[in-house]
Amino acid sequence: MADYKALYTQKLTTPEAIAEMVQNDWLFGMDTGPSQAPAIMTAVANKIKNSDIKGVKVQTLLDIYPYEFYADNSLAGKMTGFSWFSSGGARKAVNGGYADLFPAYYRDIPRHIRTEYEYDAFCVEVSPMDSHGYFSLSLNGSYAEAMIDKAKRIFVEVNECQPRCLCGTQIHVSQVDAIVEYNHELPVLPPVVLDETSITIGNLIAEQIPDGACIQLGIGAIPDATGMALKAKHDLGIHTEMFTDSMVELIECGAVNNSKKQIHRNKSVTTFAFGSKRIYDFIDDNPAVEVLPVDYVNDPEVICKNDNMISINAALEVDFFGQVCAESVGTKHMSGSGGQIDYVRGACQSKGGKSFIAFTSTAKGGTISKIKPILTPGAICTTSKNDVDYIVTEYGIAHLRGRSLGDRTRQLIAIAHPDFRDELTFEAKKRGILI
Ligand code: COA
Repeated sequence: MADYKALYTQKLTTPEAIAEMVQNDWLFGMDTGPSQAPAIMTAVANKIKNSDIKGVKVQTLLDIYPYEFYADNSLAGKMTGFSWFSSGGARKAVNGGYADLFPAYYRDIPRHIRTEYEYDAFCVEVSPMDSHGYFSLSLNGSYAEAMIDKAKRIFVEVNECQPRCLCGTQIHVSQVDAIVEYNHELPVLPPVVLDETSITIGNLIAEQIPDGACIQLGIGAIPDATGMALKAKHDLGIHTEMFTDSMVELIECGAVNNSKKQIHRNKSVTTFAFGSKRIYDFIDDNPAVEVLPVDYVNDPEVICKNDNMISINAALEVDFFGQVCAESVGTKHMSGSGGQIDYVRGACQSKGGKSFIAFTSTAKGGTISKIKPILTPGAICTTSKNDVDYIVTEYGIAHLRGRSLGDRTRQLIAIAHPDFRDELTFEAKKRGILI
């Protein structure tokens, strides 16, 4: 066997030495939050701050580390963040006008990476090298393979706390240009607090999910509450974008065993995991979790291969047509599209499948109805009127797919908060929608 340890030692360096290589206008790529390389990126930011280097760009997704280029505008023009999702730290910077975002379907990002950008370096955190010279990209399938294929240089940060994913992306020491070691606990998301309304909504959706279904749960309290409401089910499967705490709970309590899936039977499939140490420990050395590239996992043609595919995602508002905004409050950007539409489409194409978009009926202490005659000016339409399926609030479920505008409006008003139903009915009649 080749001496991979010697190759490792030869490539071992420091974040500061990597930062010395950076030149004007370099483009860096990084992937999802817990797979990002904080030691390298912090050293690069320090170097740029204290030099004449300018025009450096960094592409990121699901940011959790407090990078200076997102935390404040002091690096504007010298080092700029570009987010594929614009949540976490990037959201403030995008709305503050000193970072930019890419509107894109998550599943298309690998293609954009391959066809539209030239990367000077891909920086990624990995688990320690195995005896065959491979590092596991751990919790991250996402678009890392495209970055590895495309980037001129690959810098890895080895962290003993990164779990080793047996069925996920690997990178070999021979493909790597430089290695640094930085052992630290992985970032976690604040635990989601399940309020009474989310639990009510979760229970309503759970009633619609048969034993043997295959589930995708999105980001937020309601998808989490739905997960917890599924604990009494049997033979569920998982094919999802993000692997969550409630999924670990469902596997450990026996509700999920993946036995009824048509593809990847007996395995849970995801494109990334992000949340708690419990998730990270569960994935470590676990052959029953596959962390695969997003252009495969989020392809609606793949998603729909599992029968009874059920997708559950959150949103910010919906209009009478059923146009769903899940990305902005007016012009204030909140998040990217992620895989919402891919799972809406995949679930609707699946035999017996259903897609649920769920939210509490009001925002801001009951002062704003999330069901609206028209979307707020500036609101981004995430799921179109032609794709939408079920909308859920704490007052019930509206089934919009294939239904007329009048029927949709009537059903949506029936699940709006009672305080807003008269006003919504008045607007619908004024527009001649309710005949
Ligand atoms: N008008 C005004 N403000 C609103 C609003 C509305 N219609 N709807 C929500 N808000 C406010 C809330 O009050 C809250 O404000 P706060 O942060 O000051 O408390 C904030 O917007 C977030 O709302 P919340 O209901 O807590 O949303 P969430 O965090 O559960 O979900 C989404 C936010 C919708 C952006 C999230 O689900 C998402 O990222 N969706 C898009 C991508 C996606 O679905 N991916 C799926 C695959 S993982």
